[in-house]
Amino acid sequence: QTGLVTLDPGFVNTAACESDITYIDGDAGILRYRGYPIEELAGKSNFIEVSYLLIYGELPSQQQYDAFAERIRKHTLLHEDLKQFFDGFPRDAHPMPVLSSAVSALSTFYQDSLNPFDKEQVELSTVRLLAKLPTIAAYAYKKSVGQPFLYPDNSLGLVENFHRMTFGFPAEPYEVDPVMTKALDLLFILHADHEQNCSTSTVRMVGSSEANLFASISAGINALFGPLHGGANSAVLEMLEGIRANGGDVDTFVERVKNKEPGVKLMGFGHRVYKNYDPRAAIIKKTADEVLGKLGANDPLLDIALRLEEKALSDDYFVERKLYPNVDFYTGLIYKAMGFPTKFFTVLFALGRLPGWIAHWREMLEDPARKISRPRQVYTGYPERSYLEIGKR
Ligand code: SDX
Repeated sequence: QTGLVTLDPGFVNTAACESDITYIDGDAGILRYRGYPIEELAGKSNFIEVSYLLIYGELPSQQQYDAFAERIRKHTLLHEDLKQFFDGFPRDAHPMPVLSSAVSALSTFYQDSLNPFDKEQVELSTVRLLAKLPTIAAYAYKKSVGQPFLYPDNSLGLVENFHRMTFGFPAEPYEVDPVMTKALDLLFILHADHEQNCSTSTVRMVGSSEANLFASISAGINALFGPLHGGANSAVLEMLEGIRANGGDVDTFVERVKNKEPGVKLMGFGHRVYKNYDPRAAIIKKTADEVLGKLGANDPLLDIALRLEEKALSDDYFVERKLYPNVDFYTGLIYKAMGFPTKFFTVLFALGRLPGWIAHWREMLEDPARKISRPRQVYTGYPERSYLEIGKR
């Protein structure tokens, strides 16, 4: 089988999978989507174009781009019955289970696009998800604040439409805010894929059973919810708020981390792969300065974050463990400045990661050799033993 890595003797082979989509060099801090460096895509591309690149493998021509964007525009509306779906959730529900439930429910409303081996149905479910996830996310927000849902306005682009459905009001005209939507588009690009991370591996694993795209993406959303993965951007804000509540005392907090107090981690630091600076964090840090500056948000939490980063990068405890800022360290500050509540930050991560999840699901189903083989295990339990009647135990 391709991709099997032979570990030290005594270990079963751990199946790695092959993929053409994203390349990461953790030590060199390199990230490329289909061969293109993240720094170039961040500076020159846009989220729709990067979604096309990840899913189809090439940058689109103008005609391919326009057709792709138009196909997505045609699917931004939700089925009217799906809108009622939100009525059933408590208002204070966390938006991530709302998102995963609504995406799973798409397979009940759109039964004409579930077959993973019918090319037309795969195209239809692809554009439906890319178009509808922003609408679902905006509706989850409106439900949480008790405001009316806004229908999509297809004269706007995908990111503008999402921003309008989230922060717009039926009674008020909506002005596109280019600072916000440009920054949001960039953040979506930076989150769009990341090789075999926890949530993407989940999408591939669920998809390997030939579950439909909606079911597989719903599973990925649930995996992303975890605080060590996609939930970290919210956890960073909670960490910074906690330090601020203690008078901004960064030194004391760092000592608590080094003493390994239960539940005390430097959230937004460290990475399974990057043992150097996460290239996305460098780009986001620059954006944070720009966006917060333009929004006039002189957020004291940014000052705490900068002091925390400076302290950690010069402390042997973190340097020895190769703990550097990851993609989540600064994103939360930007999302907060944009007006999103902390518990919506992971929803924004999911919106960005969606094209990567879709690309991996399609790649794995297009080439059976790339299906994740059933992970093997090393059995460490009891040897065979005989049943004992309860009175003899
Ligand atoms: C994402 O995989 C991906 O690509 C994910 C992602 C993506 O785009 O999909 O990049 C998105 O999930 C980014 C990571 C977001 N999570 C966080 O910021 C949560 C805080 N970080 C960690 O929990 C941790 O760093 C991990 C889980 C991200 C990575 O852990 P590692 O590299 O496997 O390190 P480890 O758990 O084996 O720990 C090694 C040492 C340990 O200390 P010792 O036992 O050696 O003394 O480093 C310590 C850990 O205690 N450590 C930390 C730490 N992370 C690791 N100590 C304090 N704070 C931290 N954040």
